[in-house]
Amino acid sequence: MNGKQAAGYLAAGWVEDGMKVGLGTGSTAYFAIEKLGERVASGLRIKAIATSKASEDLARKFNIPLLQASEVKRLDIAIDGADELDAALNLIKGGGAALLREKLVAKHSDRFIVVADGSKVVDRLGAFKLPIEVVPFCYEWTLGSLQERYDVPFALRVKEGQTVVTDNGNYIIDAAFGQIASPRQLAEELKQMTGIVDHGLFIGIAEQAVVGYEDGHTEIIKAN
Ligand code: 5RP
Repeated sequence: MNGKQAAGYLAAGWVEDGMKVGLGTGSTAYFAIEKLGERVASGLRIKAIATSKASEDLARKFNIPLLQASEVKRLDIAIDGADELDAALNLIKGGGAALLREKLVAKHSDRFIVVADGSKVVDRLGAFKLPIEVVPFCYEWTLGSLQERYDVPFALRVKEGQTVVTDNGNYIIDAAFGQIASPRQLAEELKQMTGIVDHGLFIGIAEQAVVGYEDGHTEIIKAN
């Protein structure tokens, strides 16, 4: 068992019968979804909303019943990965380009649980390039506004020669802040810029993190 699997499996064990569950995106969330699928096969009754088309496909594969947002106002729990987390459980997310759905689901969940391996824990956020979701319309202007405001490298996310398009039809700009001195302030500033839909800073949203290590042991970090 590797760290991602240990974390995902442990958090999936916290889901209780009858819960409405947010399913995260990525290789760590995968293990939580897989374990939930096993538990559903053994009789656990849950309903879920997935944070990406990929996770929705996984939920279907593992026979986890899906919910529509119109059926429910809030979820009981959401379990998702992170690209970086600090001791206060502020996060960078969006490496998998799913940050907007992930944030929407996390904010509408009574408990938001992060699952990650030990490599994701950092003293200060920012070594991982911060994903920023922008509307495609005139995205060059949004990129220009970011470059004028912050003296760090920004790059439109491209994969195999193609601009990455999110499940919401938007683009991702990755920002190499290096070290983010004040994540909350940056989060608020970015949110106010026209053309930006949302960004991968998750400030004060996570309740707990399950961090898994290569030898299979896990540590719990609680938000203070
Ligand atoms: C996707 C995310 C993921 O949770 C994040 O990239 C971590 O992924 P992984 O568990 O594969 O390392 O934010 O948008």
